[in-house]
Amino acid sequence: MKICIIGAGHVGLVSGACFADLGNEVVCVDVDGEKINKLRKGIIPFFEPELEELVKKNVKEGRLSFTTGLEEGVKESGIIFISVGTPSRDNGEADLSYVEDVSKRIAGAMEEYKIVVEKSTVPVKTGEWVRRTIKLNNVHGVDFDVVSNPEFLREGSAIYDFMYPDRIVVGVESERAEKVMRELYEPLKASLIFTDIKSAEIIKHASNSFLALKISYINAIANVCELVGADVEKVAEGMGLDKRIGRSFLKAGIGYGGSCFPKDIAAFIKIAGESGYDFELLRVAEKVNREQREQFLKKIKDSLWTLNNKTIGVLGLAFKPDTDDVREAPSLKIIEQLQAEGAKIKAFDPAAIETTRAVLKDIEYCADPYEVAEGSDCLLILTEWEQFKNLDLKRIKSLLNNPLILDGRNIYNPRELKNMGFTYIGIGIKPEI
Ligand code: UDX
Ligand code: UDX
Repeated sequence: MKICIIGAGHVGLVSGACFADLGNEVVCVDVDGEKINKLRKGIIPFFEPELEELVKKNVKEGRLSFTTGLEEGVKESGIIFISVGTPSRDNGEADLSYVEDVSKRIAGAMEEYKIVVEKSTVPVKTGEWVRRTIKLNNVHGVDFDVVSNPEFLREGSAIYDFMYPDRIVVGVESERAEKVMRELYEPLKASLIFTDIKSAEIIKHASNSFLALKISYINAIANVCELVGADVEKVAEGMGLDKRIGRSFLKAGIGYGGSCFPKDIAAFIKIAGESGYDFELLRVAEKVNREQREQFLKKIKDSLWTLNNKTIGVLGLAFKPDTDDVREAPSLKIIEQLQAEGAKIKAFDPAAIETTRAVLKDIEYCADPYEVAEGSDCLLILTEWEQFKNLDLKRIKSLLNNPLILDGRNIYNPRELKNMGFTYIGIGIKPEI
């Protein structure tokens, strides 16, 4: 099939490369000419494991191309995916102006039947607006269908999540559109659920906000564990063995970040409120998430006494491992707060130094974790990169001014570190002083 992906970002580029790898002819459109030029040279503008090879392979085999020309992309394709950004406004509302603008331009370029697919995460009822906008701007008066096909891609495992999805959700309003979408996804041999458009839009927001709620729940349990002297890692293990609960997304830490959970929860609360339902449950999930960072900051202050002129070593900047993305990363807010209180920051992250350099100032970036530890008054673990779990901790201890580690992602074994002479502070576990 001939597919046009509009918005070659974390979601659009992965989807385009994967659709091409399934044998479709894909053109990726983006308003950012520099990004398109890089993509034409095989340069991927963000870190996503295996994406570069997948893009290069499909470009070489002539199934994947890149352009800034939206109209040409629409004309030559039968299915048009909208995967442009849907950033949060200050009031939590999703900014749908890019979706609206792209919908208008698609309408103006349609000269025969098209299927226009919402791939971006959008609040419920957006499909109605997309249809209305296309109808208003449908200069050639051609038939079209709007479809909702939300993505469930995790950064760092996006290609795997696309190729081996737990389910594919498709909101349709016509048999014709259902038939085409069924054929498109057939090669994945995955569970395919067809719904109306609004239900498909809700499935996305409900799924993401549930995952965020689950994280805030285990973080709340961590707070109780700390107060009573229990171990949240053991509690999570015991809970997770119940198939109805499941072990995933029960990792206590400094909270969730990224370009999805914070934005999607805020947008869901907003649209629910506008529709007449006060989503207090999600507001509490947001509050717990915020407080996790604040409590971690308090632990740092309680350990170091004053922060002014103290040197703090930070391992991990990305919002999670295996990505360079720092959007809404807890690390950013923690570092900003520490700097505001006069602390000097030394930091290392395997992939997110450049993306952090673009948003934070006055950080001394180091080449490796040992350089970070050298001369630092404490070491913070803010992202659970695999390589941080296998450090030579004896060497780290010898480089630190104080043998003090605050582990925001519980990657170390408290007893082991205590026996090595560290003061170890984690999340939801008794401090091993
Ligand atoms: C974004 C949304 O944040 C997410 O909620 C949605 O599910 C998919 O799109 P992501 O791919 O991470 O996720 O966004 P981003 O990496 O910012 O990519 C968006 C792309 O759209 C950018 O490359 C931007 O240049 C492009 N874009 C944006 C257009 O091509 N045209 C526009 O009008 C606006
Ligand atoms: C998420 C959803 O998982 C994905 O389905 C959706 O399409 C986009 O949003 P992503 O944001 O890329 O994906 O990462 P994810 O792995 O879900 O982690 C999100 C945040 O939650 C990260 O900051 C991570 O550190 C945090 N997290 C995750 C926890 O704090 N504890 C956990 O147990 C799991």
